[in-house]
Amino acid sequence: MIDFGYTDIHSHTLWGIDDGSRNLESSIELCRLAYESGTDYLFLTPHIVRWENAGELYDIREERTEYLQNILYNEGINLKLVKGFEILCDDDIFAIKYFLPYTLNNSRYILIEFNFRNTTEEDVSAWCDYLISNNLVPVIAHPERYDFVKNDITVIERLSDKGCLFQMNCASAVGVFGERECNVALKMLFSGYVDFIGSDAHDLRWRTTDMYMYLRDYPEELDEDLIFKALKENPEKLMKNEEINPVRYELY
Ligand SMILES: [Fe+2]
Repeated sequence: MIDFGYTDIHSHTLWGIDDGSRNLESSIELCRLAYESGTDYLFLTPHIVRWENAGELYDIREERTEYLQNILYNEGINLKLVKGFEILCDDDIFAIKYFLPYTLNNSRYILIEFNFRNTTEEDVSAWCDYLISNNLVPVIAHPERYDFVKNDITVIERLSDKGCLFQMNCASAVGVFGERECNVALKMLFSGYVDFIGSDAHDLRWRTTDMYMYLRDYPEELDEDLIFKALKENPEKLMKNEEINPVRYELY
């Protein structure tokens, strides 16, 4: 039973900037859906795929976020927009020294993703070590979707031991991305390895901002406290740039 407003730290709601929302009208509808679903704070996290155009994406995001927030205000949609990016990691990351403009709400927390198929644990460990050495906390987007995790879930423990946090896609735990993804998602949920639940919304069809549509089908045996942390407590700490100290249980 979810009777509190929550925060979605991952969405592609801004129009015309990546493979998410196509136009302003869709962006407004995604915001309306989020608000009606129970979201209080919605992060806008366009993909950064190449560092060469990160500065340009930053400027577009600033301008469009303000524009969209004003429209929401005028339409009576009481949803607060928060800025971030989702960064596709590869070895180019080692050339970057200044990450703050690209973190979540200018905090120490940085949302990262990887190639779904070709990525290895060694790659991810090296990228995360580099980010951590830059005083950042890697927040790994949708870990349940990567082959290297689906093939060996114990990698999650090792990345957690380094200090990584995990953002599961809301729809994964009810099987929208597939059975193997669902198994990983549920194991992580039950054992306290899900630090954030995000929509990763891209469109108004099947990857939307309506998280309640999936949350209402979550297993009743789930610890309500873990869900509260992932939907509200941890994102609020993140937005205040406060430390998050997860409690993990046995992963199996
Ligand atoms: Fe995403």
